[in-house]
Amino acid sequence: MFLKNKIILAPMAGVTDKPFRQMVRHFSNELLFTEMISATALCYHSKETAKMLDLSNETGPIGVQLVGSNLKEMSQAAQMAEQAGAAVLDINMGCPVKKLIKNSSGAALIKDPYLACQIVENIKKVISIPVTVKTRLGWDETTIDIVKFAKKLQNAGADSLTIHARTKAQGYRRKVDWSWIRKVKEVVSIPIIANGDVTDQKTASACMEQTRSDGIMIARAAMGKPWVLAEISGETMNINLKYFIEEHFDRLMAYYGHKGLFIARKHLAWYAREKSFVANFRRKVYAETDENQMRSLIKDFF
Ligand SMILES: Cc1cc2nc3c(=O)[nH]c(=O)nc-3n(C[C@H](O)[C@H](O)[C@H](O)COP(=O)(O)O)c2cc1C
Repeated sequence: MFLKNKIILAPMAGVTDKPFRQMVRHFSNELLFTEMISATALCYHSKETAKMLDLSNETGPIGVQLVGSNLKEMSQAAQMAEQAGAAVLDINMGCPVKKLIKNSSGAALIKDPYLACQIVENIKKVISIPVTVKTRLGWDETTIDIVKFAKKLQNAGADSLTIHARTKAQGYRRKVDWSWIRKVKEVVSIPIIANGDVTDQKTASACMEQTRSDGIMIARAAMGKPWVLAEISGETMNINLKYFIEEHFDRLMAYYGHKGLFIARKHLAWYAREKSFVANFRRKVYAETDENQMRSLIKDFF
């Protein structure tokens, strides 16, 4: 199985870029995911999108997540991901963003299992790394069909399935309903990864126990806390937060150039979340446009 420690970093657009993954890698040898990458943009050689597929100088396995619904483009993009060094190719079938839904992508594929399976089947024919799917419980609460959907995806050749235990309509509202993941686990043989509202060891244990899943995927809890995966695995953390954040900032600047300063803002705000006087720090960070001044802000605050 391509999962070792069972706790993996979720794909997060605008978060799990190369600099962030490199920071997570200090604490985890497990599978880490890229942000979702548009298959169409990759096929049309968008420079910015191609950069998202740069997996060089990263140790450990990286899963590339593709989003799209065009069969030809998805297969072509999957081949590009494999060539770039992806260890796993994941297909986004859960994103609720309107623009993607309009394009029959993301969570729209829940409503079109035939196309969803065709995408998996076609990609399986052209690459040899594991092909996985990340999805939600269903479109809305009245049409939850994850058990059937999971069986179909397994038959189409999916090597594993990650389930965010909410429906598309729920977005992030309501508590997750992990019981559906258990039901899926009972009827399929491929590994099932549970996702949704796992933030610490307590919720991780509860999730594993209730779902009997083969692994857990963590998203929001890693924002401002790239060591959370290791913390949940039970490792003792000894982090110099200032040096850690300075390294993350250096990496962002090296990777993005001046744009890195703007991308750093949200990360700095997340890192500061649990500290005092955070509102004032956040205000300053969001107003800052000078690299050296930003470095001073980091030095003084952390
Ligand atoms: C900022 C942000 C970006 C996200 N981007 C993606 C994405 O690119 N692909 C995807 O499948 N899910 C994406 N998600 C959903 C997460 O991967 C995850 O399924 C969801 O947040 C629930 O997990 P959590 O409770 O651990 O946060 C994103 C979530 C957040 C908060």
